[in-house]
Amino acid sequence: MPPPENLVPCRSHPFARRMRATPKSFIREILKVTEKPDIISFAGGLPNPSLIDAEGLAEAAADVFHSDGRSALQYATTEGYLPLRQFIADRYRKRLGLDIPADEILITNGSQQCLDLIGKVMIDPGDQVAIERPGYLGAIQVFSLYEPVFAPIGLDAEGPDLAGLNRTVSGNPAKLFYAIPNSQNPSGITYSEKRRKECAGILEKTGTLVVEDDAYGELQFAPKSLSPLKKYLPGQTLLTGSFSKIVAPGMRLGWVCAPQLVMEQLVVAKQASDLHSNYLSQRIASRYLETADIDAHISRIRNAYSAQACCMLAALEEAMPDGVSWTRPVGGMFIWVTLPPGCSAMEVFSSVLRENVAVLPGLPFYVDGGGNNTLRLNFSNAGPERIAEGIEKLARVIRTLASRQCPDCTNTSSRTMGL
Ligand SMILES: Cc1ncc(COP(=O)(O)O)c(C=O)c1O
Repeated sequence: MPPPENLVPCRSHPFARRMRATPKSFIREILKVTEKPDIISFAGGLPNPSLIDAEGLAEAAADVFHSDGRSALQYATTEGYLPLRQFIADRYRKRLGLDIPADEILITNGSQQCLDLIGKVMIDPGDQVAIERPGYLGAIQVFSLYEPVFAPIGLDAEGPDLAGLNRTVSGNPAKLFYAIPNSQNPSGITYSEKRRKECAGILEKTGTLVVEDDAYGELQFAPKSLSPLKKYLPGQTLLTGSFSKIVAPGMRLGWVCAPQLVMEQLVVAKQASDLHSNYLSQRIASRYLETADIDAHISRIRNAYSAQACCMLAALEEAMPDGVSWTRPVGGMFIWVTLPPGCSAMEVFSSVLRENVAVLPGLPFYVDGGGNNTLRLNFSNAGPERIAEGIEKLARVIRTLASRQCPDCTNTSSRTMGL
């Protein structure tokens, strides 16, 4: 088989070795196709545009420009705008009972940059990095730049496979364990409290640093929050967060909470990389968060996504043939679908795209191959009518392909959660 396009050595441009091991973002490639307005897209991970408070942000921006424009347009410190860091610290205390001082919080260019900085600071070529299976594509891509050996840890409805985690962090311990306990991307599962505790019990006896990506922590449909791994392992966990899903992704604002020693290294890496995150954006976000009713805004987002998730689950229940299973998320933006064995998600993707519906095949979320019969569906971006229409078309395509590719499977009843 010829190597994938991005593994072909290029004689005219002697690219660094790290680029050869780094996959292109499959999502970004697909989004190029799916951005057309007539497409019903379940492929991306975009917040619903109607839930971005453009008016509130415009007011906050005008306020910043009028009251302190020149300072907001200056260079600034690498760590980030202190009142914004203080807001994050206060919110952790209020929401989760976490005691994280503002000086252990670094503002980044989206939470994606946290992963890059952590990779830069922690990973040497050949280091073992434990990652959920399936894993977040953005993390696979960015960590790949630092040439680790990935150790995939299986997931079930409750969280990571404990035996697999134990194996990976003992002996020659993994340097990092990258985890998304709340509404994991792509599977949509949320770790149970029991599994969080058990994971922490395994990890605390090791030198493995936990990277807890909490991009979806504020998007849990039920008001009660589960304990972050950071609560169980405060000194051993780098907790990342993002304003992308609760304010606006275009502002590119995220953060990482790190113990002082790690923080110092992250600040050096960030300084070398971009001096500081967009200061104007930080100032506008900070003013917005001081003045808007952010709890009411987040609650609107949660309610809307919860309704959209229900609508997609009902449509799946109604339309999917036997043999197809899916996860039932309690937050976030994604449902993970498992097709009958032997049914190719790539073929489903191409066929349903011809009907103007975009889905994301699961294959690129597996660092060790597999997942050929899996799909990720996003429910946050399309409204209820488009969700019902898109799922109906998807089910029709799956029924046709499944009966052709694996006729026996269409009779297998399996409406359980599928990973
Ligand atoms: C799990 C996870 N982490 C990090 C990110 C990056 O988000 P951002 O850089 O916009 O904060 C995303 C984006 O969708 C995500 O799903």
